[in-house]
Amino acid sequence: MKKIINEYFNYTVPFYAPAEFVVKKAKGSLVWDENNKRYIDFTAGIAVTNLGHSNNELIKIVNAQSKKMWHLSNLYIHQPAVELAKKLSKKTFADKVFFCNSGGESIEAAIKTARKYTSENFRKDKNEIISFSTSFHGRTMMGIALAKAKHLIDGFAPLPRGIKNHPYNEIEGLESLFSEKTSAVILELVQWQSGITKADKKFITKIKQLAKKYNALIIIDEVQSGIGRTGTLFAYEQFAIKPDILCFAKGIANGFPLGGILTSSKIGDSMNVGSHGTTFGGGPIACSIGSAVVDTISKKSFLKTVVRKEKIFLKRLNAINLKHKCFKKISSAGLWIGIEFDLNFISNIDDLIKKSHENGLMILKANINTIRFSPSLIIEDDLIDKGLKIFEKSIIQSLGS
Ligand SMILES: Cc1ncc(COP(=O)(O)O)c(C=O)c1O
Repeated sequence: MKKIINEYFNYTVPFYAPAEFVVKKAKGSLVWDENNKRYIDFTAGIAVTNLGHSNNELIKIVNAQSKKMWHLSNLYIHQPAVELAKKLSKKTFADKVFFCNSGGESIEAAIKTARKYTSENFRKDKNEIISFSTSFHGRTMMGIALAKAKHLIDGFAPLPRGIKNHPYNEIEGLESLFSEKTSAVILELVQWQSGITKADKKFITKIKQLAKKYNALIIIDEVQSGIGRTGTLFAYEQFAIKPDILCFAKGIANGFPLGGILTSSKIGDSMNVGSHGTTFGGGPIACSIGSAVVDTISKKSFLKTVVRKEKIFLKRLNAINLKHKCFKKISSAGLWIGIEFDLNFISNIDDLIKKSHENGLMILKANINTIRFSPSLIIEDDLIDKGLKIFEKSIIQSLGS
């Protein structure tokens, strides 16, 4: 493994600080490294492989579709993209879909669509976007400009203009950002950077009221919260808000690159031929996987199990906390769980992640004192239990570190 790790650092741009093992294979919610050591996966590729790694049903679909057709350009129509677009429209608020490859691209498409619609339908300079602090909208220039966090934007100026950022869940002062020039407000209904934080009812009510007053669109970023993660197909179903544009990606094709936006005909039709596009977006393999994923995940019985599994996590985590009093806060939305540590207990979250890896558990960092779990939505109950036992053992080993 050492040789591959050395070559990784020799030959790849150092954007990441990956774990100190090399993954050989993955199935369901389990992962094996080159030494055949087994890990329980509480990450699912950062909320992506919602139906588990190398899912048997999806393998069949990939195999069948790859024999028929891998790639076509968007200059030609193919059935898998039409089928998925129709399914997503029927199961959501939307009339129309645009497909791309990733979350970042879905944000670009949403902002372009909003600006085009409002500048052509209201006034030419109706192009300002309001975004919120502690949000995450990807790593494109637009994505980092929207999030406006120092660690994301440092070194990358000049950023796209026309963006105003306001503290998340804060109503005071929000209206002062709005004007007749506001094109859209973009938000995540569930943020993950400081634990799992949901948008307050009052905050949502205010956003809806201001968007209506100033003819601004509401863009909901569901790149991570969508596709069953929070216990409904999309998180907006649990909040009293209807998006004008919704961004999705991550879980839609269970790890095969696919993203997109959902919107109404009225807004979508402002994007005419040539105003946007993509080479790979909405390819036949990605869309045929997407169709099967949507079929499975949108079933009520499936979504119920997500909520049931969330309860298992919470029960066990609360029991760990009762014993060790180590967590400041446990927050969750479906199988998306944030665990904020008391820094008097564990001072180094990175060390806890390393210990967990050594003990055979994959977990994610949310920030300097918070761990995030986003397991597959089909993780077996006994793997939740085994994984949390490893987590507890790793916490005890990290005591005072
Ligand atoms: C809420 C949200 N929006 C956008 C993105 C960007 O997605 P991608 O990494 O696919 O470009 C992410 C990625 O983590 C995300 O969590």
